[in-house]
Parts: sequence; C-alpha cells; structure tokens
Amino acid sequence: MNEKRKDLIYSIGEFIPNGVKFNEPLAEHTTFRIGGPAEFWVEPGNLKELASVIRVAKKKNIPLFIIGAGSNILGLDAGIKGIVISLNRGYFKKIEAKKNKILCGAGARLTFLLGRARSFNLGGLEFLSGIPGTFGGALAMNAGIATVIKNEKLKIKNGKTKTKSIGDLVEDITVMDYNGNIKLINKKNLDFGYRTSNLSGYVILNATLKLKKRNREKIKEDIDKYLSRRRMTQDLSCSSAGCIFKNPSLNESAGRLIDLCGLKGKSIGGAFVSLKHANFIFNNGNAKAGDVLRLMSLIRRKVKNKFNVELEPEIKIWP
Ligand code: EPU
Repeated sequence: MNEKRKDLIYSIGEFIPNGVKFNEPLAEHTTFRIGGPAEFWVEPGNLKELASVIRVAKKKNIPLFIIGAGSNILGLDAGIKGIVISLNRGYFKKIEAKKNKILCGAGARLTFLLGRARSFNLGGLEFLSGIPGTFGGALAMNAGIATVIKNEKLKIKNGKTKTKSIGDLVEDITVMDYNGNIKLINKKNLDFGYRTSNLSGYVILNATLKLKKRNREKIKEDIDKYLSRRRMTQDLSCSSAGCIFKNPSLNESAGRLIDLCGLKGKSIGGAFVSLKHANFIFNNGNAKAGDVLRLMSLIRRKVKNKFNVELEPEIKIWP
C-alpha cells in the first residue's frame, strides 16, 4: 500500500473510529448483488463525522461515492478506488411530522417513510410503494412512476402519460457540499427532471415533504393497489437494479421496445432479461458486471436498429 493510502486510512480512522471498513464488497450492498470491493466503506455517525470524511477526501483528492440502498447501481467487478459513504446510521434516518409536513433523513428507507407517513395519517407518497431505495437516493434520482392508476385505468393528461415523482412533494432539502458546509435549498432552487435532480454536487442530508391529511385506511388501500400492480407487471423475486434504461419519452416505455425486439429471456453469462418486464436485467447469482454491460450493449443495439431509438441507462455504473 502506498503512503498516500496509509495516510488516508489514518485520517479517516481518526475521525470515525467505528465506522470504517476496508475492501467492502459492493455486491453485499447493491440489490443487483454485483460489484467488487470498495476501498473504503464509511458509515459516519453524525454531521461532524460526515464533514470530516468529505474534507479529507477533498484535501487528498480521493473519489467520493454516496450510496443509499444500492438499488440503482451496477458496481464494476474491479471495485472502487475511493470512499463510499453510507448514511446508514440512526442519525441520518430520523423522521418527524409537523402538521401536514414530514422531515425525513436521507438514510431512511422509502418503505419505512411510507409506513411512518401512514401512521401520521399523511398521504401523497403512496405511489412510491415498492420502490426499494432510500429517501436520499429517491430524491437524487427523482424516483417515481410513469403512470398513475386510479380505478385501474391509466390517467392521460394532455395526450401524455402522467408521471408522479418524489420531487413534486419537496418543500426544501438540506445538503452538505463537498467542502463540508451545510446548506438549505428551497423549492424554487430545486430542479427535478425525469430521474434527475440538480443535487449531484451535494450529499443530501434530509428534506421536508408537504403531504395531505388522509385517513390511514385509505392510504393502505392505495399502497396495496400500487404494490399489486407492481407485482403484476414486475418480477420482484430476482436480484436486479430495477429498470435498466430510462424511458425514451413520456409516451414510450423502454421495456415495451426491448420486448418488441424479442429479448425477454435473453442471457449473457449470469445476466438475463426478465420474462415479465423487459427493462429488468436479473442476476442469476453468478453474474459479473461485464455480463450485464454486454447484455445492455446488445439491447441498445437491437433497439437502435429496430426503432432508431438510443436507450440511455437509468442505473448508475460505478465507478
Ligand atoms: N410493456 C411491454 N413489455 C414489457 C414491459 C412493458 O409491452 O416488457 C408495456 C406495458 O404493457 C405498458 C407499457 O409498456 O403498456 C408501460 O409499462 P409499465 O407500466 O410497466 O411502465 P414502464 O414505463 O415500463 C415505468 C418505470 C418503472 C415503474 C413503472 C410503474 C421507468 C424507466 N420505468 O416503467 O420504474 O415501476 O413505470 O409506473 O421510468 C425503475 O425506475 O427502476 C422502474 C422500474
């Protein structure tokens, strides 16, 4: 190990005595169950510890990655030279309600947030049911759904499929910048797009959501509806990273195009295309990142040839 790395281990260990692991396999922290070792895996316990790691990384020019539930990440087999930060400790997972607003920590799982909102009789988040991420990850990606179901019918607005995403509910977000400074970003300065946000230059700490008072039984009914629709259209039993590609437009599903290319069930190595929803690639237990990448290239090539559409990955490929 070179001197720079030794020095880094010393610096991080000094600030976070119990929250550092070395060569931690990403496969154990991603829903795809794929990915080589992260050189440094850091779980800060509070803001001071988080700021210290961020400052060390900046000072020593070490790449920094923030992981949530690892549900939208393909970790490459060679692993990551750098620091992966997980906001997995209690401090970053707190949830508080005040009237019709909820303040939620970035590290909280969406499922947990939904459960808490329901217990406070606060509705509006039901459409996120079944999305496996953390709150921070969902904000960074502006997680959402393509279609809104009500009485099992698709709602169409202005000739376009209506979308719902978490960004619609955000009042403000507290972040830490890469100098370790805390900043509150108001709604008017937030820019959410389709699976994008203007938050990539920050570590998201928490956010306030504006919800609606709603009877918890009604909330439960909708959650069940969303979950059962998801179970009907998606196979949730295999390791995957959810949808692999973004939809090319509001009116077109990448899954439908891949399906029309006859690619359901297509496999390369240990990676194969789901038989239920063609925008899902599964890991049969032995897949390497390379298998997934080759399958993705094949899908892109086929869809481009048949429909002249360039599919863009929705998942993040690390590093
Ligand atoms: N379709 C097919 N074949 C397939 C998949 C879909 O013909 O293999 C057709 C469906 O029959 C339907 C249309 O394509 O007519 C749209 O399918 P679906 O309702 O499943 O929606 P999607 O656009 O494929 C999006 C999100 C999903 C989200 C669903 C539910 C993206 C890339 N995908 O899928 O999100 O769960 O809507 O609303 O935005 C994710 O982001 O990881 C994800 C899975």
